[in-house]
Amino acid sequence: MAEALRVGIAGLGTVGASVARVLTHKAAELTRQCGRPIAIAAVSARDASKDRGVDLTAAQWFVDPVRMAANADIDVFIELIGGDEGPAREAVKAALEAGKHVVTANKALLAKHGVALAEIAEKKGVLLNYEAAVAGGIPVIKTMREALAGNSVNRVFGILNGTCNYILTRMEAEGISFDECLKDAQRLGYAEADPTFDIEGNDTAHKLSILTALAFGTKIAAGDIYLEGISNISQADIRAAAELGYRIKLLGVAQRTESGIEQRVHPTMVPTASVIAQVHGVTNAVAIETDILGELLLSGPGAGGNATASAVIGDIADIAKSRPGFQHGPVFGWPAKQLKPYKKAQMRSHAGGYFIRLTVHDRTGVFAAIAKRMADNDISLESIVQRSVEAKDQKTVILVTHETTEAAVRKATDGITKDGHLTDKPQIIRIERAA
Ligand code: HSE
Repeated sequence: MAEALRVGIAGLGTVGASVARVLTHKAAELTRQCGRPIAIAAVSARDASKDRGVDLTAAQWFVDPVRMAANADIDVFIELIGGDEGPAREAVKAALEAGKHVVTANKALLAKHGVALAEIAEKKGVLLNYEAAVAGGIPVIKTMREALAGNSVNRVFGILNGTCNYILTRMEAEGISFDECLKDAQRLGYAEADPTFDIEGNDTAHKLSILTALAFGTKIAAGDIYLEGISNISQADIRAAAELGYRIKLLGVAQRTESGIEQRVHPTMVPTASVIAQVHGVTNAVAIETDILGELLLSGPGAGGNATASAVIGDIADIAKSRPGFQHGPVFGWPAKQLKPYKKAQMRSHAGGYFIRLTVHDRTGVFAAIAKRMADNDISLESIVQRSVEAKDQKTVILVTHETTEAAVRKATDGITKDGHLTDKPQIIRIERAA
């Protein structure tokens, strides 16, 4: 039997404890699959006495994860601390510099420092594995790095945040408020420590930035992503979408366009009959469109201790199976030094269909004025419907456009606002083509 692979786990929260339990309770299966045992040689956590449902007394305990990364007798450093700076970053850097493989679930760290860390890993000839950082348990990194060899990606998009999908699903199914759904998501342990990261789209953006680098060979540019969260989605939007044959999802989308790579995170209307619209609750989904394969859709649990641990264990098993002297593929598919600068496509040039919900004064000429602004900006309408709202003397007008540009829609809605017919800000939701 080959020697055991020695791992050190930094962070024993929900995911870390689950990883420790799986490595211990599934030791026989993992040994068979990897051809060698995987031993938890070191652990770093604040409280050594807490019951985590697994016996870790044989492991060396460290209070400081950076010391563990640099000094412990381990082959693999598993970073489950979180945060894009501080101990997580320092420990990952120390481990790579000490020639240790790293497995991390930390999307925020990779979104900010992934390229620099990949350069160190590639220089040292060690692996930096991060399956759990994107879409929880879904093996999307492995798919993009390995299974899609030879394919060129045109578009990658998906539901990358379980909290948002959970909230939107419950809002639609039960007609309950955004706040109530968010509280439940927090109670169930899906939400980030700061839930604004989930609901304002930052968490989706971190994950999307990693997928973009893998898909298009560009440097990670999370700060260049167009961002809109779900906090202003109302029951009125959800009901109107359903009536028109759409469902609202928070999508992260990266696509090749003539003017560069478009990266955007925003609430999106997808046809109710599309596969991605059937992805409910905390489930995530990633669609990858390529030249050879066509469209691939992966879906599965995107958040929670066990789902994330499953991806971490897969990464560890890959390292256990690798042979000495084996040249691993580059961290982001392209060697880190060859990643191209990210060329951002301007959101104003985004082309697609739009859903526009307007709350208007109920008076003569409003419809005509709206239609004129649309025509003046060359926007062709697929449908226009009017609904009464509870407030007196107001109506809701819902427009669905054919393909147009963001610039045209903004100009038209600015014009309608100037005309003085609106009683509230226009609500604009992009429509995404989906099979
Ligand atoms: N807060 C994240 C989510 C957890 O809701 O999807 C997984 O990254």
